[in-house]
Amino acid sequence: MFSLENKVALVTGAGSGIGAAIAETFAAAGAFVWVADIGEAGGRATVAKIGAAGGAAEFIALDVANEAACVAAAAAVHGRHERLDVLVNNAGIGHVGTMATTAGADLDRMYGVNVRGVFNVTKAFIGRMLERKAGNIINLASIGGVVAVRDRLAYCTTKFAVVGLTRCIALDHAREGIRCNCICPGRVETPFVSARLKEYPDPKKAYEEMSSTQALGRMGRPEEIAAAALYLASDESAFMTGTPFVIDGGFSVGK
Ligand SMILES: NC(=O)c1ccc[n+]([C@@H]2O[C@H](COP(=O)([O-])OP(=O)(O)OC[C@H]3O[C@@H](n4cnc5c(N)ncnc54)[C@H](O)[C@@H]3O)[C@@H](O)[C@H]2O)c1
Repeated sequence: MFSLENKVALVTGAGSGIGAAIAETFAAAGAFVWVADIGEAGGRATVAKIGAAGGAAEFIALDVANEAACVAAAAAVHGRHERLDVLVNNAGIGHVGTMATTAGADLDRMYGVNVRGVFNVTKAFIGRMLERKAGNIINLASIGGVVAVRDRLAYCTTKFAVVGLTRCIALDHAREGIRCNCICPGRVETPFVSARLKEYPDPKKAYEEMSSTQALGRMGRPEEIAAAALYLASDESAFMTGTPFVIDGGFSVGK
């Protein structure tokens, strides 16, 4: 088991799905976890679950698309802990559509959360990380940031950008004590996927089709992604930076 003893972590979008699993896994490994989410009920539920399991966490309301709110969140974290060891940019939203069916406004909205959100939060924390010459940033991209996924134009566009942001941050700051990697999950069963399924005329058929696009023939579980985040957050992954870490049940292996 990798240890995060004495580390302070912040996970955005930790009120649901993959983010909640990462927050719980980090707390179980000994970290103090800031559970950041735009939704208060989900965020507080994650904090309660961590507390019930004997871990330490606190909720912080945050819309990652709001730059000023990200600066305020960093001030709150630094006021309490003076540092952030691990930042997980997990908050993200989805959209179904092709070039023909995606509106410009949808692309902007997707970009505002999935790309500008990662930029805003990282920018708010990186100054202190550079001062301390220590920081570990983990971004949730997607297999849709490595290969094109049918009917996901806006989503894939944002996730290719997250892989790009990850590589640029890693390269620019590698010699300054900062590591930055991203995780590229295939389809994982979370409320995110349930919401997308509702956009299909036959959600049950769409669920079966989504499961069958992965070589293993099933969707992933949030804990399976959290296990990778724990490794990336730990000192055992010290030689890894700039890597898109693919965990996709074989989605991208071939057809
Ligand atoms: N589930 C999948 O199949 C899958 C696959 C690949 C990548 N991902 C990525 O993993 C991440 C988490 O996905 P999930 O499936 O757990 O999603 P989810 O919808 O279950 O949870 C997302 C969380 O982010 C929060 N959020 C949304 N907008 C926000 C904002 N502007 N500011 C702060 N918080 C906000 C939501 O309130 C929610 O709690 C996303 O970046 C997603 O793109 C998911």
